[in-house]
Parts: sequence; structure tokens; C-alpha cells
Amino acid sequence: MAEQLNDFIKNESKGLGLVTAVSPANIAFIKYWGKSDKQQQWPANSSLSMTLSKSVTKTSFAMNNTGFDQFIFNNQLLTSKDQRDHKVFRHLQFLRDAMTSSGMEISQKFFTIKSENTFPMGCGIASSASGFAALTTGFLAACTDSYQMEQLELAGFNRTTIAKLALRGSGSAGRSISGGYIEWVKSTSPECQSIEPFMAAKEWDLSDIIIIASDKEKAVSSTDAHQYAWGSPLFSMRLSQIDEKLKFAKEALETRDLQKLGLLLEQEALEMHAVALTGSTPVQYFNQKTIEIISWIRAERLKGNLNAWFTLDAGPNIHLICKASESKNIVKKIQLDWPQQMIIEDRVGTGTQVYKYGEIYD
Ligand code: PMV
Repeated sequence: MAEQLNDFIKNESKGLGLVTAVSPANIAFIKYWGKSDKQQQWPANSSLSMTLSKSVTKTSFAMNNTGFDQFIFNNQLLTSKDQRDHKVFRHLQFLRDAMTSSGMEISQKFFTIKSENTFPMGCGIASSASGFAALTTGFLAACTDSYQMEQLELAGFNRTTIAKLALRGSGSAGRSISGGYIEWVKSTSPECQSIEPFMAAKEWDLSDIIIIASDKEKAVSSTDAHQYAWGSPLFSMRLSQIDEKLKFAKEALETRDLQKLGLLLEQEALEMHAVALTGSTPVQYFNQKTIEIISWIRAERLKGNLNAWFTLDAGPNIHLICKASESKNIVKKIQLDWPQQMIIEDRVGTGTQVYKYGEIYD
């Protein structure tokens, strides 16, 4: 481990062949829940999300001469046993194959990869989305010596193309490449699915105040829960109505109607959790604290004290969506009533960036 870190630092000081990708998490307004094709990561339904700005994964790549990739996450090196079947290495292999089959000669390029999150992982803040978005973008940038997204585009990888590759690592990662409000369109076949910006960040400045109910890593991964969803008696009802719901959500965004969007957000989050709770293997992602905070949100809103609506990811933490201009006051209010809870005040952002390693990206 010390040796690999030393190599990394030696390269770093020479400033050679180093690139850092910074990718934000995203919060789904209409959730991706269930896969129609596991192999090709084809979702059971289209989804819509908001790209965040503060909750990010930073992943740096340095060339190494060992003949294989090394991955250091939060200063922990994945061992060689993990390497065979770990999803990070499976995704790197997928990217190598994709680049090779499009005619790029990268078979001899291997990297030491160092990655870290600015937020707790595996507890419903979409760390797999930001993680696989940064891994994909950083790998493509390192292979093509691109130090800006514009250079990467000139090398043949625009954001739409990167998104399609990133979703193979983790579906929601595809929605973390571009900024603003993003639609992942299921379409009629896995090959035809696409991930496209629906509305730019500057069109509507919304905040996501993340209230941490627990930062423990979840016991059941979303990968497993996507499969269990098909066993829920509620799932076919969900799928039959989801396109209509997506249409309403897009209308609410276009008309900047927070109340309309908010109602949908809460229904959608609770519906996804109802499917998870009633799947072939039931999964409960929320906890007692989640329920207490949700009840508080609804009660305060009814009293006219809170102009904000919640959504939940596959975890216990609450994402409170509000106008960015009202976010500071809402955070103060939460801190008063929930002094024990950690809060991340995030907002809509502009998407993944790449930098020459060592350039300021904070
Ligand atoms: O990308 P995955 O496999 O981690 O699935 C993400 C699923 C949710 O985060 C719960 C919903 C979504 O659309 O992001």
C-alpha cells in the first residue's frame, strides 16, 4: 500500500500523466428502480434527476508500470483478491474493451487510481452515481490525455457518450455527467436508451438539503434491490403510471412549479420505498429518524412554516428540495429543531469536470 501511494506521489510531483475527474452525486426526482436488462443496465423505466454540486467524488489517475490497475479508495487499497470480481475493476475492463473495439490502442496503459468522496457513502446520497461517473470520465481523460471536458469531447467523448458508458458501472452514474436536470430515457431497446440534459442548472436554482438520519452503509445494495422490485405486487402498477408521472414532473420543472413538483417528489419517493418494502426480498431503507423528520417536514409545511418537499434515495437520509434563495433559512430552522443531525446544504450544479491533477478543484 505504502509503495503504491509513493508511486502516486512521485508521479504527482513530476506532474506527469495525471488527471482528476470530479463528479457530483445526483438526486432522482423520478427514480430508476428495477432493471429490464441487467447485463446492459437497461432500466425498467425512464427517470429524471437533479445534478448536485457539493457532494462529489474526486478520482485521480496516474500511469503505472505494474501491468495492472490499482485502486485506492479513501486511502484503502483494494486487494488483489478484490480485483478479480470488484465492480470497479469490472467497469475498468468494460471501458478498456469499449475503447479497444472503437479502435483506440490503450491495452498497455495501466493506472493507479485514487478516489475519495466529500460525503458519507452507501447511505442514500448516490455515492455510486458520483463514483462511477468520476471513474468513467477520469479513465477516458487519462487514456486520451484530456485535461478539460472540451478536450475529451475533441477526443470523441462528449457528455452524452460518457454518460452511456458510465451507466454501465452504475445506472444512476449516467445522470451525473451533465449538470442541471437530467432525463434518462428508457426507449425501446438497451442500445437506444439515452441520457440527456432536460433543463440547465441556471434555469432553476433549487437546493437539496440533505439531512443525515444515519451515515451507516446500507445492508442491501441497490443492485440487489433492483432485482427484488420485480417481485413486488405494486411494481406493475408503478410501471403502468410512471410515464405520466415523468411528464408531470417535467411540466413542473418547465413552469418552475415547486408545489406541483414537491407533491410528486414525495409520492414518488414513498412509492419507490413501498416497492422495496414489498419486493421478493423485502428491503427497508429508512429508519425511525427518517419517519420522525418526514412527519416534522409535513407538519411544518401544513403550518405554513416550510416551503420544502422531501425525497429519499435508497437509504434513510432525507433530501429536502427547496428554492436556493430560501435554503439558508431552512437549514437554520432544521438546526434548531434537529440539533443532532448532520446536514449537507447542496444545490443544483453543472456536472462532471476534469482537471490536470493539482489544479484547484475545491
Ligand atoms: O445506480 P444504482 O444502481 O445505484 O441505482 C440507484 C437507484 C436510486 O438511487 C435509488 C434511484 C435513482 O434513480 O437514482
